[in-house]
Amino acid sequence: MHVQQLFNSFKEIFNCGADRVFFAPGRINLIGEHTDYNGGHVFPCAITFGTYAVAKRREDRLVRLYSLNFKQTGVMEFDLDGLDYDPGHDWANYPKGMIRYLKEAGHSIESGMDVQFYGNIPNGAGLSSSASIELVTGVMLQGLFNLSIDRIDLVKTGQKVENEFIGVNSGIMDQFAIGMGKRGAGILLDTNSLRYEYAPLDLEHHSIIIMNSNKRRELAGSKYNERRTECESALQSLQSVTDIGSLGELTEEEFELHKDVITDPIKQKRAKHAVYENRRTLQALRYLQNDQLQKFGDLMNQSHISLRDDYEVTGKELDALVEAAWNQPGVVGARMTGAGFGGCAIAIVEREQVEGFIENVSRKYEEAVGYEATFYVADIGNGATELDKEVIV
Ligand code: GLA
Repeated sequence: MHVQQLFNSFKEIFNCGADRVFFAPGRINLIGEHTDYNGGHVFPCAITFGTYAVAKRREDRLVRLYSLNFKQTGVMEFDLDGLDYDPGHDWANYPKGMIRYLKEAGHSIESGMDVQFYGNIPNGAGLSSSASIELVTGVMLQGLFNLSIDRIDLVKTGQKVENEFIGVNSGIMDQFAIGMGKRGAGILLDTNSLRYEYAPLDLEHHSIIIMNSNKRRELAGSKYNERRTECESALQSLQSVTDIGSLGELTEEEFELHKDVITDPIKQKRAKHAVYENRRTLQALRYLQNDQLQKFGDLMNQSHISLRDDYEVTGKELDALVEAAWNQPGVVGARMTGAGFGGCAIAIVEREQVEGFIENVSRKYEEAVGYEATFYVADIGNGATELDKEVIV
């Protein structure tokens, strides 16, 4: 699609022209799952699928939002003086929350706007379409109102919308990857200190394949919050014998030494995942930097097993996909990515084998669950930004 089509449909909806377009990507996570709210490390990257926002400032204080992905909900309207969460506003609560918190942080947003969103992230796939709409709103507000906002603050505002406005107790990984992504690179982020480094993903003979289970992540919010609470409780138990602020501070050995103070076996398993996954993530970066791709892949596989058996967030669809992927020629590693409970998995596959890989995994998956998966070759792209008007989206 050419961006001109987005401008054309903006004109049809709002009866006036717009000439600025903003973009925020989705993300995949290579390794480091359910570690970000446990003070651990994550290793995500931005992808080239994402959310576009075509926007124009208004003279009054009205905000009108429209999404080409949710045409049935029509234009959502509210006033700059009425920025409370409203269940009737559905998806529009994400941009609304961003406007509210940026205003509250003292940024001058004193006139309304017309905005049209369009996203090509598969819906419900767990590739962070919500963080994408938060961050595209952030860069759009920055652009329309000439705001100077530190990028990390924008990332944190996105997380605040998720946590406080929407009510999902997520960590900072998604907004960070989407706000800070860089073409061709993964980001190793320490979620405790927010120190980060870019790691080139120069895979040369391999591709990263995204496998969408097409099982929507329903109920994900409540199960997600439950895992978080279980980890917090395990941490409290550990704090009776060690002086730690988060599970991310423990080595495997320290965990093994103290784990019995967590008397509930379920909570002990959750904490084990958080500790071991964090260490795997650090190790994974080292393997990548030393060109030891197969070892990186082995860690991806271990990550999936831990998410399946100890953290219990995979489910039969993601397990079927990943287990089928493990058995294919040319596969270096495969695991679920994101929150789990449906959504996507990823696999690193030798380029020459990609076609056969997709064919075989596709068939096996359908045999196992009764419907199809969808496959994409991941392209690692840049973080949220204003786009050139000539861009092909
Ligand atoms: C979701 C959350 C992230 C992170 C992942 C699991 O994507 O938004 O903060 O916790 O799940 O790693």
